[in-house]
Amino acid sequence: MPATVVVGTQWGDEGKGKLTDLLSKEMDVVVRYQGGHNAGHRIVVDGEAFALQLIPSGILYPSVTPVIGNGVVVDPGVLLSEMDTLQSRGVDTSQLKVSGNAHLIMPYHQEIDRVTERFLGKNALGTTKRGIGPAYADKASRVGLRVQDLLDEKIFREKLDVALKEKNAVLAKVYNRLALSSKEIADRYLTEYRPRIAPMISDTVSYLHDSLAAGKNILLEGAQATFLDLDHGTYPFVTSSNPVAGGACTGSGLGPRDLSRIVGIAKAYVTRVGAGPFPTELDGELSELLVSRGHEFGTNTGRRRRVGWFDAVMIRQAARLNSLTDIALTKLDVLDTFETIKVCVGYEAEGQRYEFPPYHQSVLHAVTPIYEELPGWCCDITSATRYEELPENARRYVEFLAKTTGVTISVVGVGPGREQFVRPA
Ligand code: GDP
Ligand code: IMO
Ligand code: MG
Repeated sequence: MPATVVVGTQWGDEGKGKLTDLLSKEMDVVVRYQGGHNAGHRIVVDGEAFALQLIPSGILYPSVTPVIGNGVVVDPGVLLSEMDTLQSRGVDTSQLKVSGNAHLIMPYHQEIDRVTERFLGKNALGTTKRGIGPAYADKASRVGLRVQDLLDEKIFREKLDVALKEKNAVLAKVYNRLALSSKEIADRYLTEYRPRIAPMISDTVSYLHDSLAAGKNILLEGAQATFLDLDHGTYPFVTSSNPVAGGACTGSGLGPRDLSRIVGIAKAYVTRVGAGPFPTELDGELSELLVSRGHEFGTNTGRRRRVGWFDAVMIRQAARLNSLTDIALTKLDVLDTFETIKVCVGYEAEGQRYEFPPYHQSVLHAVTPIYEELPGWCCDITSATRYEELPENARRYVEFLAKTTGVTISVVGVGPGREQFVRPA
């Protein structure tokens, strides 16, 4: 069976965790392919909430094998504590596999993330300060330590010494910070983490291809989103990996022809955490209403999310960047109390209309959204179980979004719970 990808189409927090959980019912393997614990994927099962950072959201199904792919950056301390929390809540984590080629987040990555953000001052990106960017930078510079290095103490210490020599010079001389001890780091990673991580380290590429050959169903769970993509997002206000569907191949080792369904996750409005352009951003009362009705605070960092109207220009771009087959539209219920709802159907800048985002950042920063206004439905849709039960104006909104983006909407979320969704015919 070919694989399915879940990919964010906006700036993250679209509900990828919920959709991954929903689709995992029919899956045998669920893979995280990029990012690290900058992600926060919230799933609500029978009123109980789980917030996953590094572990694939499919883990809540005992029949699913969760895999952390080679494209992920792994902080082993965070991974182990996430496993412990899940275990203590009755979730079996014993089947978890971690790619030996995934890179390790080291203590100096987190330290560098913090101090560089501080140094940037008003130009800070608003990263999650988890060491994600510095870990990917070391991967690209070929001085990163990989998960498999935990298995060879000599290599681990050698690589750490080489990396730390340069990091400590930078930390001390540029940022006026204390040098980190190679011995302390090595002892923690090799003595505390290695015994528990080692049994999970696998050749995940072979495992995934063998699974496909055996007819198993694989789901690739993206973290972050299309417009946080290092290449295609609103650079430099992006993360340091490739969340787009192409990243599902490089980050897992499956080939492009192994993918069959690519589900884009889109909120019925838009949110963003951290700095960067946001054409449809709202402020004032409407933004307060969206934030409070949508509980728009970071799943892990607790930061308030910026909010705005649905932006079809972004989704058209996401459709072509990811080869989207369909869209899961989430949080439609958050709009329940709005009398009218705006949708951005194009941008305007210097007398020119744009159906897709302008490539030049100066133009993008200056665009004005062109809106269409639709009537709201002003009633509670959270208990709908069939698409036909949605009020006519809610269906009109969904169908308008499908038309203006050019992508079929296959699932509509009407609440955070596992069962709170309907499927348009
Ligand atoms: P992710 O990072 O893409 O997995 O998204 P997050 O979990 O960070 O943020 C999405 C939030 O919306 C979570 O709190 C979910 O429980 C919640 N959520 C997902 N789908 C729906 C929906 O259809 N309606 C409502 N009200 N909440 C939803
Ligand atoms: P999920 O998977 C929303 C944002 C940060 C910052 C930028 C760079 O839950 O959708 P980083 O720490 O990655 O170097 O930060 O990316 N960011 C996210 N925003 N959801 C996420 O993940 C995010 N992961 C990173 O706020 O603007
Ligand atoms: Mg999130």
